[in-house]
Amino acid sequence: MCGIVAYIGRRPARPILLEGLKRLEYRGYDSAGLAVFNGSIAIAKSAGRVSVLEQKVNGLGGFDGTIGIAHTRWATHGEPNDTNAHPHTDDVSKGHGIALIHNGIIENYGVLKQYLEEKGHTFNSDTDTEVLTHLIGELYDGDLEAAVQGALREVTGAYAIAVICNEQPDVLVVARKGSPLMVGVGKDEYIVASDSSAIVAHTTQAFTLDDYTVAKLTRDSFRTTTVDNVPLTPQIRELEFDLDQIELGRFSHYMEKEIHEQPDSLRRCLKGRTDTREGQVVLGGIAEYARDLVKARRIIFVGQGTALHASMVGEYLMEDLAKIPTEVEFASEFRYRNPILEDGTVVIAVSQSGETADTLAAITEAKQRGALTLGVVNVVGSTIARDTDAGVYLRVGPEIGVASTKAFIGQVMVTTLLATFIGRRRFLSADYVSQLLTSLEALPDHVEKALQLSEEIKDATSRYVERENWLFLGRGHNYPVALEGALKLKEISYIHAEGMPAAEMKHGPIALIDDGMPVVFVATKNSQYEKVISNIEEVRSRGGHVIAVATEGDNAIRKVAEEVFYVPDVPEPLQPMLTVVPLQMLAYHAAVLRGKDVDKPRNLAKSVTVE
Ligand code: M6R
Repeated sequence: MCGIVAYIGRRPARPILLEGLKRLEYRGYDSAGLAVFNGSIAIAKSAGRVSVLEQKVNGLGGFDGTIGIAHTRWATHGEPNDTNAHPHTDDVSKGHGIALIHNGIIENYGVLKQYLEEKGHTFNSDTDTEVLTHLIGELYDGDLEAAVQGALREVTGAYAIAVICNEQPDVLVVARKGSPLMVGVGKDEYIVASDSSAIVAHTTQAFTLDDYTVAKLTRDSFRTTTVDNVPLTPQIRELEFDLDQIELGRFSHYMEKEIHEQPDSLRRCLKGRTDTREGQVVLGGIAEYARDLVKARRIIFVGQGTALHASMVGEYLMEDLAKIPTEVEFASEFRYRNPILEDGTVVIAVSQSGETADTLAAITEAKQRGALTLGVVNVVGSTIARDTDAGVYLRVGPEIGVASTKAFIGQVMVTTLLATFIGRRRFLSADYVSQLLTSLEALPDHVEKALQLSEEIKDATSRYVERENWLFLGRGHNYPVALEGALKLKEISYIHAEGMPAAEMKHGPIALIDDGMPVVFVATKNSQYEKVISNIEEVRSRGGHVIAVATEGDNAIRKVAEEVFYVPDVPEPLQPMLTVVPLQMLAYHAAVLRGKDVDKPRNLAKSVTVE
């Protein structure tokens, strides 16, 4: 949902800003822009990708300064065109030469715009952001920091902003509420960005801004305050981030790379968390709350998209292993439907980015109602990670591809560990847990084996890739996997796909099945295998073509399925982390075969920081 980067220092700002934008492009990519002060503020903007902006700006003079701001946009208010691209400026005729970039939404922009128009301001764009620029301009009285603080006291909504001004060319002011923002601290320089990927090439020292914090940066000093000008002391920490993690290497796309990283992601996620000898799970992040978790009377998972699907697997696991009544809710629905949270309710937020606005709002609501909140989050130090009472990190490394892959199996792995951690303290014997953990530790090797199916899956996919409607079906623990397979296919290849419990098909969706329609079944050997086979027969007798994910050695399934992708046999509760892999590869190959932009699908952004 928009990426922002800003620089003040002694080096040329332009290459640092453009490089930063490329790192952040996964956050939004419908238009981009930058502003650099070089005697006066020069601005370049363009609809389209950062590469378009780069070509434009590299052919222009006036961008050689050492302070600047840059933005890559995911449109909310106003179509993606040059005018609506950021930076925005204050009133051209009576302004102070203020340029601003913004990630978030100014919710009360309507009334503010009316107020400013009555004061004689003229607006150029259709964005909510421009209102903030004019408001800062209206309040500016020779002190940019004070004007930003004053303006932010008037706005409602979410923002991460960076502001520069012709009249104070040695000052960069940044602020944040609800949208992420981090300040990298270098020698005589600061690099501000939506996340650390745009910072680590320059420095590993950084601090995260808290909500309602404003930072004033000059080349050799900074100060942070609240919007009411109360001084704050941020904690500077070492960023744990290896640049190799965000390079493509031998892969064509981040999604492909991240699918193939999954065995290692799982190994990292498991490291130090399993004590197979003692039959114990070790989760330092929640140890303090172990007693509350053991006594929990109800668990509610909240998340969106892929994180919701992982939560659905979590529901099965929690009830199976910990025997605690568990539900899953779209975070967006939970927040607004006045949920009843009795004593002993634990709300678990599942999120790769840790910044998803809906999930964050659900956690805020749960906390207000007295629930214990946990985060199952990938990005270290993200807002959800900080706003929950405790949590467990995924440790799967940065996920850049918009389509979530390694985060899904990380989320499922962490919920498995959580359920086992609680279950062991309630009903599970040390022997049972020992065996389960042994199976968990073997899982990365099984995933590695499943990845060898890639060419076979590509070949099979090519036979169906022209079909516009697909079904994904599964039962039990594999039902959320069917949902996830359908989501992957639709979001990157724009094929219409629906996922559902296999048994639900005959209650309506079976009407869709016509000659040759691809129907993907997760049909591994487990307690519901026979029932899935019956559902396969129902599809076949109506002309559908069956693509099955099956267990190695199941030769019988070849008689009822056109295509079979075999995965190793693992215990039923652990199957989702393996069965999802062929479906991720299927979606990836379908998108590539259809010539789509796999890592930057249309209309999407990696982290959804608006409601
Ligand atoms: O960062 P989060 O895990 O909170 O994101 C939630 C969803 O926006 C995300 O999973 C989305 O559905 C992915 N694009 C799916 O691939």
